[in-house]
Amino acid sequence: MSGAGKSSLAHAVEAQLHQRSCRTFVLDGDNIRHGLSKDLGFEDADRRENIRRIAEVAKLMLDAGNITLTAFISPFRLERELARHTVADGDFIEIYCNCDLKVCEQRDVKGLYRKARLGEIAHFTGISSPYEPPENPEIVVDTDQMSIEECLDHIFNHLQKMGILSPIPALPKALKRSSTK
Ligand code: ADX
Repeated sequence: MSGAGKSSLAHAVEAQLHQRSCRTFVLDGDNIRHGLSKDLGFEDADRRENIRRIAEVAKLMLDAGNITLTAFISPFRLERELARHTVADGDFIEIYCNCDLKVCEQRDVKGLYRKARLGEIAHFTGISSPYEPPENPEIVVDTDQMSIEECLDHIFNHLQKMGILSPIPALPKALKRSSTK
């Protein structure tokens, strides 16, 4: 949902990955909706095309060696499945930012829910346009109940359990002492 915290979380995950010397790139509304998908609106067909483009760009980013985080509503299951199959098996990890609509609406960071309720924005996800929750996401974070730090812990624990990331080795005691001097 809009306001669920997708972009903030993607950037926080990215910062953690940088600490592990990973190369990353975040695709979100800020860099896609204002550029590549500038010609698209929010009707179903446009959203489908938006996600198709994002999946193709993410594939190119991956081919260039970047872990690519895509922070989008992506309201339809079918397009998420198509995105999953655009990249190699196992390369697509679906993280569902589960946030109660009421909470998103209370946050109303961009004032869009108010406008949608007033009928000033059409096809608004959760209000006048459908959202199909993921059935089998790899990871779920309840962004209406968990802090960003808790979400990060949850995500990184899962990535370790899935064998995608190795635990960061504990710093040897001698090094710890010298790094605090
Ligand atoms: S998607 O459905 O095509 O994946 P996307 O994630 O790119 O959506 O864009 C959603 C963002 O666009 C929202 O977070 C919100 O800021 C803004 N937005 C503007 N109009 C709408 C709308 N009608 N429905 C949902 N989000 C909208």
